Amino acid sequence: MEKLTILLVGSGGREHALAWKIAQSPLCGRLVAAPGNPGIAAVAELRNVKATDADGLTALAREIGADLVVVGPESALEVGLADNLAEVGIPCFGGSQRAARLETSKAFTKDFCARHGLPTAAYGVFEDAASASVFLDTLEAPFVIKADGLAAGKGVVIAADRAQADAAVLDMLGGRFGSAGARVVIEEFMHGEEASLFAICDGKTAVLFGAAQDHKRAHDGDEGPNTGGMGTYSPPPVLTPALIDQAWRELIVPTVEGMAAEGNPYVGVLYAGLMLTPAGPKLVEYNARFGDPECQTLMLRLESDIVPLLLAAAKGELAAAQPPTWRDEAAICVVLAAEGYPDAPKTGGLITGAEAAVAPAVVFHAGTTRDAEGSLRASGGRVLNVCALGATLGEARDAAYAALGGISLEGGFYRRDIGWRALRAR
Ligand code: AMP
Ligand code: GLY
Repeated sequence: MEKLTILLVGSGGREHALAWKIAQSPLCGRLVAAPGNPGIAAVAELRNVKATDADGLTALAREIGADLVVVGPESALEVGLADNLAEVGIPCFGGSQRAARLETSKAFTKDFCARHGLPTAAYGVFEDAASASVFLDTLEAPFVIKADGLAAGKGVVIAADRAQADAAVLDMLGGRFGSAGARVVIEEFMHGEEASLFAICDGKTAVLFGAAQDHKRAHDGDEGPNTGGMGTYSPPPVLTPALIDQAWRELIVPTVEGMAAEGNPYVGVLYAGLMLTPAGPKLVEYNARFGDPECQTLMLRLESDIVPLLLAAAKGELAAAQPPTWRDEAAICVVLAAEGYPDAPKTGGLITGAEAAVAPAVVFHAGTTRDAEGSLRASGGRVLNVCALGATLGEARDAAYAALGGISLEGGFYRRDIGWRALRAR
């Protein structure tokens, strides 16, 4: 087969992990990343085009003669990158603007679930506080209040009592998240453990692409503010094959079929955030992309070549593709974050030791930049992803934390208990 020119869109740890895996493919002739980061620069050419510049990225894809565009972040899907690429006939791994509403609009997703009878929390969608209040009267504490649109993972409030719930509704409708909060979604609270399931889709067919569990809170013991994710591991023991099967039948398959039937065929990663309730897996949310840092652990565990799968999904040919194969080992990822993350991360901190880590540890760059002297500096809230494979999750954890011991970030912090749910005696 002829070698491919691939354009990868994004600049975080997820994209570094994707670049690392794509670059290992014998099918990859040229890998260009936009805008990329210093870690990605080791395996790809960087071009300085933003992930939200759909026109600029489409022009870049044409200029380099891309055979495939792989989209990391949802922000690129929201601005219609996949639609632009479809117009010029370039295969894109990532959904259309309309299909990506499964992530970009919580109200769309809840209404979709209702139309197709998918298991999820009871809900209501409101544009005014008075009707929100009437619905809240029908629920019991705690209350779940969400801004409809994208709010960088901060648009969800779990309110312990009614006063907090009312305040959250007023806050969101009052413009705290801009237009993302013009509508609020109020949900019944679901009890259980959370886990994430991934499917690769081509509009008609879905292929299981592993599972992971993450730690959203900033501090040990799952305390502190919500973040984009402080660490993750795969596979998650709590998501048994029987539960995966149930979620597949009750959520993933009807979602792919329903999206196609409604004229919005779903292409790319379908990432289901699940609540494992006593009544079975229920949908917390869909994302239209790989999880970050879930993706890092999936890339470490993926044994087979990722490129044929991404290309088959982009071209609508998944039914004929070889399913992925996985290593027996467990993978873990620990996020090294900048001081002040998530509220006000301090950028510019000096990073040392990041390039010295050795197997089984792998370090992905999430928010780094090089200064004039060539030193690495923090440029975002989540700075490095220190990952490892191990025969067991415990061994993977020990290897990742050993590697972290050789890395420093001025003012940085990381959680010391990544994997605790899976590692505790069950
Ligand atoms: P989301 O952005 O929709 O994934 O929500 C962020 C987090 O809020 C989830 O990971 C859950 O921990 C929690 N959450 C969201 N919706 C619910 C719900 N209906 N019941 C319980 N917890 C929820
Ligand atoms: N780690 C959670 C996410 O990517 O949404």
